[in-house]
Amino acid sequence: MKIIKAKITKYRNLENLTIKLSKSNAICGKNAIGKTNVLEAIYWCLTDKHLNLTSVGAEDYKIGDQDAIAVKVELDNGTTIERVNAPTYVKGKLQATTQHLWINGEERPKKTGDVEIDNILGTLKLDTPKGIDLKQFLINPLYITLCDKEALYKLITKELDMSDVKIVKQDKRAELFINYVNGGDVATSYKKLTDDIKKINTELKNLQSVRTFLDIWKVEKDKTWEQLSVIADTNIVNAAQMLAERETIKISAQKYFEAQRVLMNKEVHKVFGEDVDWKFIEENQKDDSYSLVCYPLVKGKKTKLANGSTSEKILTGISVITNYLKHHKDLEALPLIFDEGETLDHESLEKVVANSQVKNQIITSIVRDEYKEMEIIKL
Ligand SMILES: Nc1ncnc2c1ncn2[C@@H]1O[C@H](COP(=O)(O)OP(=O)(O)OP(=O)(O)O)[C@@H](O)[C@H]1O
Ligand SMILES: [Mg+2]
Repeated sequence: MKIIKAKITKYRNLENLTIKLSKSNAICGKNAIGKTNVLEAIYWCLTDKHLNLTSVGAEDYKIGDQDAIAVKVELDNGTTIERVNAPTYVKGKLQATTQHLWINGEERPKKTGDVEIDNILGTLKLDTPKGIDLKQFLINPLYITLCDKEALYKLITKELDMSDVKIVKQDKRAELFINYVNGGDVATSYKKLTDDIKKINTELKNLQSVRTFLDIWKVEKDKTWEQLSVIADTNIVNAAQMLAERETIKISAQKYFEAQRVLMNKEVHKVFGEDVDWKFIEENQKDDSYSLVCYPLVKGKKTKLANGSTSEKILTGISVITNYLKHHKDLEALPLIFDEGETLDHESLEKVVANSQVKNQIITSIVRDEYKEMEIIKL
């Protein structure tokens, strides 16, 4: 599905602008000319959100103007969608806003209108996990860096039809870890384990002679526990032995998570293609969300998505979206809208495009100081 025309009225610095769009579009112009505003306006019309997921607000009304924002897009199947945000000012201050939606020239109540847009775009077809807006996921390549990571993980594992059981069976080390708490899920087990270790550490710290004992332990590390218990307080030996055991389990747990990640990646590649690798966020090992949070990496560069360049983020997003669409052939390729196209690493883009056969229309922006007026060029 393509957007063939967009009419933007009174959105930020844009007074009245009509643009025609083709398959690949880069909106060019010097800084502060309004390129981002064009993209934001189009994205808002389709999703009722900004590209950074915030809502349209007072800052989007044209400064010095008290008129409504209106954005109308025309799709290549003849559908028109028009979204209007009308402000009410009292003594020059914004008091309230009202939104109106027109689909094919007929006004709809906002709620049903938004559902109808989802229907038109095909994004109502799938039962997506809570926290993921499939429409935003399929339009905005940067969405995966902004959306709820737990929901993203759920979406991925749902697509892959994976379960912990399947993974546990394939890794014997995990048994030790799971047995530690006699069942339960991985996150709870991990939390219990880390809590216990914390508790034992405190116990050891509180034991008067612990320092002496640990010094002996260091020197006599070849001695068996029985021999050690002769030369040290039994309580300390027991506690230290328990600690050592727990640490073994902790190492197993870490190995288990790594094995889980490797296996998950194999499955991920089936759905999302080999351009994208997934890694659990290490910082979350400490809390119980370890197994629920992950981030994608651009394969080949191994840059953490959270810290990656805009280019890497966009490329990862495009790769994820296009590979997802391959898996859901009944879903239409929607326009990909992203800012700062000039940051794109074109060599990688070509690879991603070649590997995933990107069918989507692309609407992006590129800074070009030599342009006095905004202009649309082919990417
Ligand atoms: N509510 C508003 N009313 C009028 N003008 C606004 C409003 N909000 C922002 N602007 C103006 O919009 C311009 C910024 O537009 P935009 O961010 O789309 O530019 P850009 O072409 O993307 O620039 P860059 O190349 O720096 O990314 C600025 O001149 C800013 O003052
Ligand atoms: Mg910009």
